[in-house]
Amino acid sequence: MELDRKIDPIELFGKWFLEAKEKEISDPNAMQIATVSEQGYPSVRTVLLKDITDGNFIFYTNYESRKAKEISQTGKAAICFYWKSLNRQIRVVGEIKKVSQEVSDIYFQSRSLGSRIGAWASLQSQPLDNRDTLLKKVDEFKKKFGKNVPRPEHWGGFKIIPKEFEFWQDGEFRLHDRFILRPNIGTKLWDCQRHYP
Ligand SMILES: Cc1cc2nc3c(=O)[nH]c(=O)nc-3n(C[C@H](O)[C@H](O)[C@H](O)COP(=O)(O)O)c2cc1C
Repeated sequence: MELDRKIDPIELFGKWFLEAKEKEISDPNAMQIATVSEQGYPSVRTVLLKDITDGNFIFYTNYESRKAKEISQTGKAAICFYWKSLNRQIRVVGEIKKVSQEVSDIYFQSRSLGSRIGAWASLQSQPLDNRDTLLKKVDEFKKKFGKNVPRPEHWGGFKIIPKEFEFWQDGEFRLHDRFILRPNIGTKLWDCQRHYP
């Protein structure tokens, strides 16, 4: 691939993502998100990419979870997509912020009833004495809300605002092709640099 300033990382992401949607057996939108604690310890887990808006990568979670606490402390995160069927990886590093309440509300109401109830019942990342406690809470919230489940304040979206992309394509003899894109200061273009594999 020829590298030049005309490469738009979001466009290229879209192209690779489309191919992943055709080829991956499940969850082509799964991405690993890494956050860092105040003490500098990284932690990583999988979430699902739900949208890309204005070049920002959006996922939804519990705002009191471990990842959300770390996000509120640092305002930074990295995500990584690995598509085994394509032998491709994309890494994005950036700043991270909550999406607006309106955006979270719209997405929340598009979820299944069970998932909306689950968002109320699960104190994500908190200790749970046993599974029955969770199932009891699910029943309680089902009774409380019926079919009209509002979005809990502790649940919503985050958007990753990219500061750097890395595209990685598997190559023969481990001579993979990697290239990094960083914003060109003063223009809306991206500088592209190939790296050794
Ligand atoms: C395929 C897959 C998709 C997942 N999607 C999400 C998601 O979109 N949002 C979420 O909060 N957790 C999701 N999870 C669960 C997270 O990996 C994680 O266990 C949870 O968010 C708690 O993380 P934390 O304690 O580090 O905050 C997913 C897990 C898997 C395996």
